Amino acid sequence: MEKLMISGGRPLQGMVSISGAKNSAIALIPAAILAESEVILDNLPLLSDVAVYAEILEELGAKVAWEGSQMRIDPSAIKSIPMPNGPVKKLRASYYMMGAMLGRFKEAVVGLPGGCNFEPRPIDQHIKGFEALGATVTNEHGSIHLHAKELRGTKIYLDVSSVGATINIMLAAARAKGATIIENAAKEPEIIDVATLLNSMGAIIKGAGTETIRIEGVSELHGCRHSIIPDRIQAGTYMIAAAATRGDVLIDNIIPKHLEAITAKMQEMGVVIEEFDESIRVKGTPSYEHVDVKALVYPGFATDLQSPMTSLLTQARGVSVLSDFVYSNRFKHVPELVRMGAKIRVEGRSAIIEGGLLNAAKVKAADLRAGAALVIAGLTVEDGVTEVTGVEYIDRGYDHLVSNLRMLGADVWRQSE
Ligand code: EPU
Repeated sequence: MEKLMISGGRPLQGMVSISGAKNSAIALIPAAILAESEVILDNLPLLSDVAVYAEILEELGAKVAWEGSQMRIDPSAIKSIPMPNGPVKKLRASYYMMGAMLGRFKEAVVGLPGGCNFEPRPIDQHIKGFEALGATVTNEHGSIHLHAKELRGTKIYLDVSSVGATINIMLAAARAKGATIIENAAKEPEIIDVATLLNSMGAIIKGAGTETIRIEGVSELHGCRHSIIPDRIQAGTYMIAAAATRGDVLIDNIIPKHLEAITAKMQEMGVVIEEFDESIRVKGTPSYEHVDVKALVYPGFATDLQSPMTSLLTQARGVSVLSDFVYSNRFKHVPELVRMGAKIRVEGRSAIIEGGLLNAAKVKAADLRAGAALVIAGLTVEDGVTEVTGVEYIDRGYDHLVSNLRMLGADVWRQSE
């Protein structure tokens, strides 16, 4: 096991290039099994979650060749094999195997997902969608069993606009008979990315990115080549780190439109932000104003940036209130930040943050974004070395984090525990 060591107090300076999006990649890889021939994914992030997904596909008999930021997936020899255990258990997003296998084979057995369990994360909307398409779904000894004689298009209204359920239903419906309409669909950019891949494979999907998605089922899908969208959460994390250290960083290879909510909030605090076609420059200032933040579904402020934003708000004057309306209890970073001297209390689904300086401490990342929050907090500390354990969570979502931060001038290194 390794830990991250951070000797903070240095403003981040320079340029960082952002990799492809984790939350797209881990939906696009399973989507590839719906094709009958090779799918090539470009701009793939180098992350442990991506490696686990490659393992899952190989277990089914797909040929996976991963080199640098490109993955070639040949699913032509893939078989319908039950997956109650093994790598599916390591990953929350293995739930996409349900939609993809159901679409391809009309059956699947998938062990209930693992992953970042910052709070119970139900999958009832995924199951509601599969059942509406004609599948029988049962939970047997911790595995979800799905089976359908035939998948038939239908209208599905999601009670919550869930990213996972929207994508999973698209995967199953792409090869169903007839048209499926998803109402109250999630609108995150990753959903558009998955629809774009499926359409390049021969699917007929319209309306991705709006609350109504229409999927006209087709009998067969073919291979294609697709480039993954940039990771807006990694980009937002570097924006926050640049501001928190009063640095000056150009965040490159991004879609600035995907970052509108975080950009607006940071400007409201007094951070100087310049937008270009494919990059954003973030310049810190000596003093920031407190702000209130509400994490919502896209295009609202991303819940995945809520924890990193908590660390930035410790650097603002006065009291900020940060509420999460996507997850009610995503605050595992708070007790660790308090260990570093932060004045934060959690009330219901809000964190109330009083600005002040932080101290070096030994802290533990309990999930991916909590880990990012602790790294940012460590970067602001003037004296001493902050130690962050739970690095395996951070590796699930941040591509080349240590080398990127070092390139920006941070004194950060990995050390064996
Ligand atoms: N929900 C339900 N029932 C469902 C599905 C979701 O009640 O069947 C609820 C959840 O409990 C939550 C809300 O709906 O309160 C939104 O959940 P959603 O389904 O949108 O989340 P997800 O698809 O499981 C993805 C990302 C998360 C990100 C959320 C929200 C992946 C693999 N994960 O999760 O990413 O926080 O959308 O944007 O795409 C992360 O990257 O750190 C991460 C956790």
